[in-house]
Amino acid sequence: DDTDLAATPPMGWNSWNAHSCAVTEADIRAAADAVVSTGLRDAGYEYVVVDDCWMADETADETAAEGRLRADPEAFPGGMAALADYVHDRGLKFGLYSSAGSHTCQGYPASLGRERVHAEQFADWGVDFLKYDNCGDHRGREPRDRYGAMGEALRSVDRDILYSICEWGRHDPWLWAREAGGHMWRVTDDAVAKWRVDGDAFGLGIADIIDRVADLDTASSHGPGGWSDPDMLQVGNGPDSGQSRHEPTDVVRPLTPAENRTHFAFWCLLGAPLFVGTDLTDIDEGVLDILTTDRLVAVDQDPLGAQGTPDRRTADAEVWSKPLHDGGAAVALWNRGSEPRDLRAHVDETALPSAADRYAVCDCWTGETWETAGDLRAAVDPRDTAVLRVTPA
Ligand code: GLA
Repeated sequence: DDTDLAATPPMGWNSWNAHSCAVTEADIRAAADAVVSTGLRDAGYEYVVVDDCWMADETADETAAEGRLRADPEAFPGGMAALADYVHDRGLKFGLYSSAGSHTCQGYPASLGRERVHAEQFADWGVDFLKYDNCGDHRGREPRDRYGAMGEALRSVDRDILYSICEWGRHDPWLWAREAGGHMWRVTDDAVAKWRVDGDAFGLGIADIIDRVADLDTASSHGPGGWSDPDMLQVGNGPDSGQSRHEPTDVVRPLTPAENRTHFAFWCLLGAPLFVGTDLTDIDEGVLDILTTDRLVAVDQDPLGAQGTPDRRTADAEVWSKPLHDGGAAVALWNRGSEPRDLRAHVDETALPSAADRYAVCDCWTGETWETAGDLRAAVDPRDTAVLRVTPA
């Protein structure tokens, strides 16, 4: 049923941050190959998603009653059904993008008012995932109505299509997106490959998103079947990644290893969908190690499906925790300061479901294990985050 389709947070790769509007069929094939050869598929990454700009500028005949979408014949000469086959042949699933408006964010034709026809096209092509954006003319319709129309269309076709609602958190989608048929819903504006974004610049930095999510009440609707989405992973991205090339030149360096680790740690602690946004054909080993850290992926994919929440927030450090299905919890210790620090917490202040005399502790980054009666500690570099898996012994 609908819950099975996203029993745990969806995982995959999305073209937007790496290729932006220049995405081609060759890029998607190369990405599918790389998801396999890098070991990402074995780590659980499953969907290969073509984001914006895959459509021809005009539909075959936009004024015709059918209003079908057409793939850009230059960028996608083989067409979407063949591309879906290519992805499926590698044991992966195939995703496409449209918008709940007249046009996509880059001005291509989209699906508002033509949901049925497009859902049928997607099903015919073998699409397994739809990312549905919020751009274009909304014709005065409310988000839940626009998103609900596509949710209904997707449910009416004879194929399971995971529905990713990209409403940017503007109208509290955590309150209605599940009912609209969504399996994941964006809760914030676009992530960019920066630690913080100043003033009016486009997008949110990684630390900005964590701060934002801490203040939102998204946890209660988050769980098996539907997930709060703080956007794609910028892990590995920087000034040379596709999206950044379209931004002003204030992007001066890639995220550092510590920033990448905090980014990944928090997305796992939140139980967020994990969509890699970096170019896999040119991926750095250190970045790949972060994305495939199995103990963290297990925290993200924990079957209980809880969203991690903050226990203690100060200017220098934060403690967050996420209850796990085995009665334990994952506890994140984030050093927000500029000096290395010994961070401490106690199980009593965390979301650990039940107290015990002793706990087994495992450092999710290093695999090191020890026991405690309740005190937790970790030496954490500036901007880095330790994640301790704590299990009643
Ligand atoms: C919006 C979305 C992004 C991406 C772009 C594509 O900004 O939030 O994730 O899909 O559109 O144009």
